[in-house]
Amino acid sequence: MIRIIEPRFSEEEKEIVLEILESGHVTRGKWTALFQEEFARYLGVDYVFTVCSGTVALFVALKALGVEGRHVIVPAMSFMATIDAVYLAGGIPVVVDVDQFYTMDPNQLEDAVKRYNPKVVVPVHLYGQTADMDAIMWLSDRYGFYVLEDSAQAHGALWKGKKAGSIGHLSAFSFYASKNVPMGEGGAVATSDPKIAQEIKKWIDFGEHPAFNVRITEFQAGLGYAQLKKVEENNSRRREIAFKYMQTLNGGFVHPVEREGCLHVYHLYTLRHPQRDKIIEALKVNGIDARVYYPYLLHELRGAEHLPTPNAESFRKEVFSIPVHPYLTEEQVDLIVDSLLSVVGLAPHPLC
Ligand SMILES: Cc1ncc(COP(=O)(O)O)c(C=O)c1O
Repeated sequence: MIRIIEPRFSEEEKEIVLEILESGHVTRGKWTALFQEEFARYLGVDYVFTVCSGTVALFVALKALGVEGRHVIVPAMSFMATIDAVYLAGGIPVVVDVDQFYTMDPNQLEDAVKRYNPKVVVPVHLYGQTADMDAIMWLSDRYGFYVLEDSAQAHGALWKGKKAGSIGHLSAFSFYASKNVPMGEGGAVATSDPKIAQEIKKWIDFGEHPAFNVRITEFQAGLGYAQLKKVEENNSRRREIAFKYMQTLNGGFVHPVEREGCLHVYHLYTLRHPQRDKIIEALKVNGIDARVYYPYLLHELRGAEHLPTPNAESFRKEVFSIPVHPYLTEEQVDLIVDSLLSVVGLAPHPLC
């Protein structure tokens, strides 16, 4: 089976894990500190706090901002953790539509902001491409809300030269096994605002008020440290595969559209096709894993308040993702292309 997601670890990770085992220092040690430092440097932010998952990173970020009883705006398309974290932190989610890039529609966001006066807006950099951060930050300045970037799928993505996760007031990352920087499980909250950093710490260190233990182990931090060194090269390979898909897959597929001046890191390669379900079944027969991210819209899933979401409703019926991970061989990429073309009744493209 060609897997849709395939984390790989090498000699370096093995050596780090062995070193940690032999040292007996398995939590709160040098690897956690090193990873936080390196990830902060990579993003260009002042503070990074590792936590045990992306969901917890969102929760801690929302708690740090104090959303209890206040509205928090999220986009219709994302993994469920984006909205669940709002409920868990005591906020009231409001869902808005997405634009053609599958990220929060800034025009509709303004309507929602006027109506709900949110404390926080959570743009999600879905599939590896940033939301329209200029428009969102402009609205934030004008109306006075915090911007928490859900960057779980966008390690290394750029918005006009700035890293995803370094543009808003704070951001949340996931290092789940499938992510562009995998640790197995893990997450982080990032910010350059010292006051926000202080509030985040209260949800991470014990003492100030009741809080969960949200730490990662040294093993996770060590894996993350080694994987971070590879993220740029891996993202380039993801982009190379994505371009091949764009060039070769004709036949009614709607490909992802890259924002001008930005870098998409293809956490997922997500296309649209009216025959999506038939295509996924046929790919499975050929040993290729393809999936729908996500079959639900967040407001439907949790019964949340929402504005009209015509884009998300139509995209949801047609989106599907195919493997784009950096360890695919050329032969595997060719097989994916040929299989897709033959399912839609087209001979493979001459370039293949
Ligand atoms: C957009 C988005 N937000 C949040 C999360 C939650 O991350 P985790 O699975 O590490 O809790 C994920 C990942 O699965 C995600 O894709």
